[in-house]
Amino acid sequence: MKYKSVKKVVGSHADLFRAQEGVVNPRIFTDPETNRLEMERIFTRTWLYVAHESEIPNPGDFVTRTMGDDPVVVWRGQDGKVRVFLNVCRHRGRRVCSEDMGKAAHFKCPYHGWTYGNNGELISVPFFEGYQGQLDKDLLGLYETPQLEIFHGLIFANWDAKAESLGDYLGEARWVLDLLFGRTEGMEVVGAPMRWEADANWKLAAANFAGDGTHIFTTHGFRGALGLADKLKGERVSYRLTTNRGHASALSGFKGNYCMGLPEDLQAEMRSNLTDEQCKVMEPLLIIVGNIFPNLSFLSSAQHTSEEWGGSGSGLVSFVTLRQWQPKGAGKMEVWSWCLVDKNASPKWKEDSRESYLRVFGMGGMFEQDDMENWADITDALQGPIANRLWLQYKMGLGRPHKGRPIPSLKDVRDGALSEDSERAFYSYWQKLMTRTGHDSNGRKRKKR
Ligand code: FES
Ligand code: FE
Repeated sequence: MKYKSVKKVVGSHADLFRAQEGVVNPRIFTDPETNRLEMERIFTRTWLYVAHESEIPNPGDFVTRTMGDDPVVVWRGQDGKVRVFLNVCRHRGRRVCSEDMGKAAHFKCPYHGWTYGNNGELISVPFFEGYQGQLDKDLLGLYETPQLEIFHGLIFANWDAKAESLGDYLGEARWVLDLLFGRTEGMEVVGAPMRWEADANWKLAAANFAGDGTHIFTTHGFRGALGLADKLKGERVSYRLTTNRGHASALSGFKGNYCMGLPEDLQAEMRSNLTDEQCKVMEPLLIIVGNIFPNLSFLSSAQHTSEEWGGSGSGLVSFVTLRQWQPKGAGKMEVWSWCLVDKNASPKWKEDSRESYLRVFGMGGMFEQDDMENWADITDALQGPIANRLWLQYKMGLGRPHKGRPIPSLKDVRDGALSEDSERAFYSYWQKLMTRTGHDSNGRKRKKR
């Protein structure tokens, strides 16, 4: 990290989002130096999602992922414990694991053969005698994240040993994650995650999922044009959550008992796992969407299964997807998309749910493609020096007073009036982390190392 050159950039980052005016400078989507600093200031300080427990159910199971630019392996040891290691050999830095997923008691580095156990320990070094006592194997195990926590099966890791707990970090977003992942006896990932690259900055996707409700009518307007738009009528119900850690979520539906289209058996499970207040909120819901800062988005959407939608015609079905926007430089990201289902669901529901996900938000899904087109276009259009001077507008709902508590136990939730407060919450926390040198994510001064 070259702090000399960084200092100048930090000063200017303080003016890349103007919260009072609700405007964002386009440079944050195009500047390579900003991207490099994000890796250091955001992706080494915040809790990052790495995998779902159901992807590695047994001892030895592993998946390889990235935390920002750093490759990691999420590995369940023989002792059943999940650990996250930097996927980098302590000898010369080669990835020790080249697979996407699998099962292994140990990894042997393909370069010179240093071998690590699934608790991270360096087990053997070829030609060890040649080091003549100069190499301490005990100090050269795989580098492990100092913090790891699991919430409803979602595995999060953090490189910052002093970061606040995952619970404190998530704040009231936990309440929303309960509706998706805590309402059941357990969720499971269906198959392997889909992955694809998009020529778009990661923040455009994350902030969109945080709660951009207004793009739906234009970007996904084909539904109305084709007569496929919501046939459900009645009084709309909606809520918006924004937190001071940049997480945001939107819940919406119509008065009635839709409950995300869940079948009766899953609704019964829900009622035994959620509070009365949460069950009441679930009743009208058809959409739950949001983003956990920085780059984990979640979405559940109830869709008609009518033949017009290509479905079986049996009513409503919903899917749950997690998606992660992995930055690959300023102008590129790798999208990871998981489909999850309730493990106790009937085979029919599991299949309908997966099909619904594929139709709508799988890699070739109707909505997915619409969204990607926008984010890639923005990333490209803002490259030029003139476009780079324009401030982008996120003013909707700015300064609107926060009235009452539509969900009494939550202080960060307001009713779903049109607003761009979700995006503002995202960029506020982004800016806070980007402009704090020498502080951890809680604002505590770091000790010099
Ligand atoms: Fe891994 Fe040499 S780089 S053994
Ligand atoms: Fe969209």
